[in-house]
Amino acid sequence: MEAVHTPVLLEETIRYLAPRERGELMVDATLGEGGHSAAFLRRFPDLKIAGVDADGEILERARERLGEFNGRVRLYRRWSGEFFSGYPADLEKPNTILFDLGISLYHYEGSRRGFSFLRDEYLDMRIDTSRGRSAAELLASLTEKGLADLLYRNAGERYSRRIAAALVEARKRGPVTTSAVLADLVAAALPAPCRRGPVHPATRTFQALRMAVNGEAENLPVLLEEALGILKAGGRMGVISFHSGEDREVKGFFRAKNRACTCPPETPICRCGGLRAIRILTRKPVFAGEEERRKNPPSRSARLRVAEKICYSGVEP
Ligand SMILES: C[S@@+](CC[C@H](N)C(=O)[O-])C[C@H]1O[C@@H](n2cnc3c(N)ncnc32)[C@H](O)[C@@H]1O
Repeated sequence: MEAVHTPVLLEETIRYLAPRERGELMVDATLGEGGHSAAFLRRFPDLKIAGVDADGEILERARERLGEFNGRVRLYRRWSGEFFSGYPADLEKPNTILFDLGISLYHYEGSRRGFSFLRDEYLDMRIDTSRGRSAAELLASLTEKGLADLLYRNAGERYSRRIAAALVEARKRGPVTTSAVLADLVAAALPAPCRRGPVHPATRTFQALRMAVNGEAENLPVLLEEALGILKAGGRMGVISFHSGEDREVKGFFRAKNRACTCPPETPICRCGGLRAIRILTRKPVFAGEEERRKNPPSRSARLRVAEKICYSGVEP
C-alpha cells in the first residue's frame, strides 16, 4: 500500500516522545495511515503500539502498512474518547500518547467523502461512516443563524453571515449535496478580493462543517482529560493541532493541569502540597522547520505541544 499522507513534525515528535525504557506502550490515538506509528516502531524495536482510529477504511490501510510489526501492534476502530473512557482491560496503561488531530491527506484525496473543495463528491465528511449525520444533512437542517454561528465558532469565518445567507437562499432551489456546489456557492458569496487570495475562499467553511459533523471542537478538552487519566505517571502526551482554535484548547488544557500548585512551572516535583497534574515540556508550540514546510505543505499549520504527567512517588495525582 502506498501511503497518501506524510506524517508531520515526525522528528520533533520522536524527540519528545521517544521511549525511555524497554518494552514501553504508546497509544497512537489518531492512527490514520500509521505514518507516525510506523516510524516509531522502526526506530524503537522494543516499542509496542495501540493504534486507534474512528475511520474503518483508513484503519485497514494502517493494518496493511503495520503488518511487518506484527505482535507489537494492536488496532482499535473507535473514537479515541471512547477508547480512553472504556480503556481495554487487557491492555497495560500507556507510557506515551500521541494525538495528531483532524484528518489525513488520504481523507481529502482518496476517501471520496467530500472533504475537499477541489473535488466533486457527495458531502459526507464523516470520519466514522457507520453513524451520525453527513455534512449534506447538517447543511439541510440548520437555520441561517445556526449555520453562521457554526462557521464563525469552528473556523473564525469572518463572512459567516454572508455565506449562511447565500446557502439558505440556494437551499430554496434544491439541497446542497456536493463539495463542488458548496465551494462555488461560498466563493460567489464572498467579496471579489477574497476570491483572489492564496487561500481558497471555501477553506474555512469546509473546516467548520467537518468539525461539526465529527464533533471535533466540543470533544477535545474531554478527550485530553480522559487520555491524561489513563497515561502512566511520568508518561508523556503529545498533541499536534492544525489551527489556532484547536491549539488554544490544548494550551488552555495544559495550563490548567499545570496550575494546581504555586511551585514555579519548571519544578519537576511539587513542593507546596498542591497537586499539579503535568509538567509542560514545550513552553511554546513546536512548528515545522523550513525544509519540512517546503516538502510537505500541510505541515505549515501544524504545531506540537507536549506535557509529562507528574509522578508523585508512584502515586497517581
Ligand atoms: C492527521 S490524521 C493522522 C495521521 C497519522 N499520524 C499519520 O502520520 O499517518 C488523523 C487521523 O485521526 C482520525 N481521527 C480524528 N479524530 C479522531 C478521534 N477523536 N478519534 C479517533 N480517530 C480520530 C482520523 O480519521 C485520521 O485518520
